[in-house]
Amino acid sequence: MTARIEPSILAADFVNMQAALESIATADAVHVDVMDNHFVPNLTFGPQMVGRIQDTSPVPLDVHLMIDDPERWAPGYAELGAFSVTFHAEAARDAVALARRIRSIGSRVGIGLKPGTDAAPYLDLLPEFDQVLVMTVEPGFGGQSFMADTMPKLHALREAVDRHGLDVWLQVDGGIDDTTIAVAAEHGADTFVAGSSVFRGDPAERIAALRAAASAASHAHPGGAA
Ligand code: DX5
Ligand code: ZN
Repeated sequence: MTARIEPSILAADFVNMQAALESIATADAVHVDVMDNHFVPNLTFGPQMVGRIQDTSPVPLDVHLMIDDPERWAPGYAELGAFSVTFHAEAARDAVALARRIRSIGSRVGIGLKPGTDAAPYLDLLPEFDQVLVMTVEPGFGGQSFMADTMPKLHALREAVDRHGLDVWLQVDGGIDDTTIAVAAEHGADTFVAGSSVFRGDPAERIAALRAAASAASHAHPGGAA
């Protein structure tokens, strides 16, 4: 497995966004956290800012929508060219219909699950999605501690993806560092969002270290067995 590393620009310096984006040119994608102050108690940026990031970024955009009413807003992020658009299961009225709409515009589509959200209702729907985002903190803020009690859910998703021979990426987000990335990889994650642990150090070095730690863990536990 190749571990995909997706730095979250939530941890970057917002007034030096161009430099932040250039500093993560070796990443697989840039994770862009859109928050609306309703779905989560924090506010970041909307389509205009994300459009400028899309124009400027050396790597594709992975847009994480922590917003209410994704039916209204998510298609616009696909239209501006995001590589992937993830909305939250807890916010969507009809997750499958919205996923099909995002795919029809041309982006990969993801469904996000908060730590308390069960994956069981989505296991039969996995072919409708390109990735599942297992939140490993409560969404809203960077710099929180990894919640290991989300790992059984991740492992159940990995088993379902493999059992059905699907190419659905399993992404983790929140509290990912050199230690927790190995735990998530062992439980089946292949795509890793990291904010603080990338931007607190030299981003290129941190990306390489995280990628190495994830790859070592997944080789030690092929298939993501716990
Ligand atoms: C939290 C966001 C994360 C956040 C992760 O709601 O979805 O993407 O940036 O930050 P760290 O890696 O610092 O936990
Ligand atoms: Zn995120």
